[in-house]
Amino acid sequence: MALPEPSEQSTALVTGASSGIGEQLARGLSRRGHGLTLVARRIEPLERLASELEREHGVRAEAISADLADSGTRDELAAEVERRGRTVEVLVNCAGYGIYGAFLDSGLEKELHQLRLLVEAVVDLTARYLPGMVERQRGAIINLSSTAGLQPLPFNASYSAAKAYVDFLSEALHSELRGTGVTVTSVMPGPVRTGFQEASGADHFTARMPGLAFKPAERVAEDALRAAERGRRAIIPGGPVVKMAFGPNRLAPRRLQLAVGKRLAAPPED
Ligand SMILES: NC(=O)c1ccc[n+]([C@@H]2O[C@H](COP(=O)([O-])OP(=O)(O)OC[C@H]3O[C@@H](n4cnc5c(N)ncnc54)[C@H](OP(=O)(O)O)[C@@H]3O)[C@@H](O)[C@H]2O)c1
Repeated sequence: MALPEPSEQSTALVTGASSGIGEQLARGLSRRGHGLTLVARRIEPLERLASELEREHGVRAEAISADLADSGTRDELAAEVERRGRTVEVLVNCAGYGIYGAFLDSGLEKELHQLRLLVEAVVDLTARYLPGMVERQRGAIINLSSTAGLQPLPFNASYSAAKAYVDFLSEALHSELRGTGVTVTSVMPGPVRTGFQEASGADHFTARMPGLAFKPAERVAEDALRAAERGRRAIIPGGPVVKMAFGPNRLAPRRLQLAVGKRLAAPPED
């Protein structure tokens, strides 16, 4: 099993645990007996989930509020995890949202904020916790990429680029780390109905996706955890329909990828 056995002091740090896929990953890890460090900005849903998981599964679950787009806050998060005496043996980088719209309209601040959360925070937390995992010769990192990262997407440009970054980083690290006892798994979900659509203004994009491609967050999380348990490099979760619908995109000619992507992601005309 590539997911390390839970222990008294070990913790699975799950970002984006206040909602959607991150919440379901936390639930799946608690069912497997892992102590949890639940991270997102909103503390109430994190605390509610922590109490429920402690009650239901007898694991230790702690909630920490942090805006992961902020590097100082990430320092404070790491200090707090250390102060509590936790050893991060499983790291799940799941927090995220996407900008859906024209790059020209989004503005520098929004673009950089998305980049800091989707890319910088993933690199930061990976760089903080990976050395200890390698030293202990056990650990697992699960990074949420997306089928959006399989090709460039006009009108979702930085999000698709960020998810491609997360996928490339994860798959390359998986290879680099062979033989260390640590695995990195890239998880590339197709569409999932969560808080993501509202937080990202992605309703028009979602409405253009075929209904069969949607999978529940519970299924996506369970497939992701099984892939991590097997030490897999990458997975498109949700079963064969999702794999067939999105997997081949990676191999399509660039012009076709761009033409189809543009039709799907273009903002609706007024
Ligand atoms: N839903 C989809 O269709 C889909 C498809 C492919 C990939 N994904 C990826 O899956 C991941 C989870 O998305 P989801 O669908 O579960 O969306 P979600 O329900 O909106 O959850 C997003 C999580 O990220 C947290 N978050 C957002 N900004 C944050 C910040 N600055 N600092 C800390 N936490 C922050 C949110 O909590 P707070 O608001 O409390 O901070 C929430 O817990 C994302 O990386 C997304 O890109 C989603």
